[in-house]
Amino acid sequence: MPDMLVKLYDLPKTSIFSKMEAADITIRPAIAPEKHHVSAWVERQFDLGWRSEVEVAFARQPVSVYIAIKAGKLVGFACYDATIRGFFGPTGVDKTQRGQGIGEALLFACLKNMREIGYAYAIIGSAGPTEFYHKKVGAVAIENSDPGIYKGTLEN
Ligand SMILES: CC(C)(COP(=O)(O)OP(=O)(O)OC[C@H]1O[C@@H](n2cnc3c(N)ncnc32)[C@H](O)[C@@H]1OP(=O)(O)O)[C@@H](O)C(=O)NCCC(=O)NCCS
Repeated sequence: MPDMLVKLYDLPKTSIFSKMEAADITIRPAIAPEKHHVSAWVERQFDLGWRSEVEVAFARQPVSVYIAIKAGKLVGFACYDATIRGFFGPTGVDKTQRGQGIGEALLFACLKNMREIGYAYAIIGSAGPTEFYHKKVGAVAIENSDPGIYKGTLEN
């Protein structure tokens, strides 16, 4: 899976946040007391590697994790500056809640924040759903970037 590059200075206009509001889904930055809850959820829904990454994002100040909440429950997360500086991800949405725009809203929330803090570009590390990133924020694959920074990562 390649890394992808996103122009933060040229993000498309989006109405995704009004869509979230209309659906009563809250998208907001996470705060430190939520770390144990979000980390455990990420491990349950995805894996231990993603838990490690989200915990690194929680260790930053301000925390670089955004969460999605529906009916009082965590339904998705996204982070940046976790894997390595300048990287967006990981991100994920509860399987039963996909297709409502939550992933898109979390993506825009993080990328807008990255722009605000001074990045010109974001890199989506080892992008799984490349079509999603291309369609939503014009991300393009970086040539010869697989396995990139992940080469030799310990897995056991
Ligand atoms: C990728 C993911 C975060 C998207 O979340 P989601 O809430 O289902 O996505 P949205 O509802 O915001 O989708 C927005 C659009 O992207 C499209 N899309 C979503 N996932 C897609 C995928 N895997 N491939 C292609 N298009 C996709 C949707 O069809 C939708 O298109 P539309 O606006 O034209 O209708 C979610 O599928 C997920 O958690 N996947 C597993 C974890 C993962 O792969 N994370 C990314 C790691 S880099």
